Amino acid sequence: MKPMIKCFIVAALTADGFLAKDKNQVSTSWNSIDDKKHFVELTKRSGVIVLGSTTFETFGSKPLKDRLNIVYSRSKNYEGAEMTDDEPDILLKKLEERGFSEVAICGGSSIYTKFLKAGVVDTIYLTVEPILFGKGITLFNDDVEYKLELVSESHTPQGTIFKEYKVLK
Ligand SMILES: NC(=O)c1ccc[n+]([C@@H]2O[C@H](COP(=O)([O-])OP(=O)(O)OC[C@H]3O[C@@H](n4cnc5c(N)ncnc54)[C@H](OP(=O)(O)O)[C@@H]3O)[C@@H](O)[C@H]2O)c1
Repeated sequence: MKPMIKCFIVAALTADGFLAKDKNQVSTSWNSIDDKKHFVELTKRSGVIVLGSTTFETFGSKPLKDRLNIVYSRSKNYEGAEMTDDEPDILLKKLEERGFSEVAICGGSSIYTKFLKAGVVDTIYLTVEPILFGKGITLFNDDVEYKLELVSESHTPQGTIFKEYKVLK
């Protein structure tokens, strides 16, 4: 049976659509305070974050507190995090069995793509920051096509835009 647990992507993008300049760039080095607060609010609401080992290492391989940290890796182990290489539907089923009703997919590109392609993502929270990189890592790294419904959009006086999209399946 398909898990009932809700799954959302949360990501910050430059105005020209990049997640980062390169894979070593710390994901929190250029986004606004408002976006950092938004991220904490959403991820504390879910209680569990899922991310790839590259992203986890960009913030010093330290788990984010007050949330279960699940890290995708085929070879590594980090203190304070649970490691996985499960397919998305299997991981979601296990999390549902542990009592979670929502899970935050926190990147990077390979993990966003894996979950979107598995058809398990219900919602995408995108922050668009008023900054340009010109080139870099895109939100998804493979061919994907989904229609979205814009659920809400707001912006701060400093020009940070928050969008919530529902993924139409
Ligand atoms: N702007 C934002 O909101 C935001 C958010 C998150 C990340 N980022 C940025 O995104 C960049 C990193 O993205 P990325 O795509 O290069 O890396 P990533 O998705 O963070 O991590 C990739 C790693 O995840 C593991 N992995 C991937 N698929 C797996 C699978 N099926 N099974 C087991 N392990 C798997 C592998 O780890 P092993 O090599 O250890 O096996 C792989 O090397 C960084 O620059 C980061 O700052 C930006």
